[in-house]
Amino acid sequence: MMLRAGLGFVGALALLTGTAFAQAGDPAAGEKVFTQCKACHTVQAGQNRVGPSLFGVVGRAAGAVEGFAYSPAMKGSGMTWTAETLDKYLTDPKAAIPGNKMVFPGLKKPEDRANVIAYLAQQK
Ligand code: HEC
Repeated sequence: MMLRAGLGFVGALALLTGTAFAQAGDPAAGEKVFTQCKACHTVQAGQNRVGPSLFGVVGRAAGAVEGFAYSPAMKGSGMTWTAETLDKYLTDPKAAIPGNKMVFPGLKKPEDRANVIAYLAQQK
């Protein structure tokens, strides 16, 4: 009986910390999620590939990297990248900004999005 109660408590704690992580975002876990972005993006300033450099992306206006040929949809989105707008965009890029040219299906897990956003917030 005591043992059962003890395990239940540990389980509840694990659930609680899991939730806390999902909300705050874990940059180290986010760096792993970012491997999915690396085919097209770097976090080095001025280093554009298929996609624009994501150096300093949190807090900047969408479509603002010098020398990158954005789609008119991205350039005209009027969006500023915050944790909130990034979460929306990365859930389903096509739905969030119709006509943008990022060919990526999106990150379906909320914790993956929170973690990669926490990682990106450090790249400045
Ligand atoms: C297949 C290539 C590709 C992959 C993979 C990809 N992206 Fe992109 N991304 C792009 C392109 C291209 C654009 C520019 C879109 C436009 O101009 O319409 C873009 C734009 C963006 C922007 C807007 C940048 C700005 O300067 O306004 C963000 C933020 C972004 N991507 C984040 C990510 C993240 C995070 C991942 C991984 C979870 C990812 N992308 C995966 C190609 C990609």
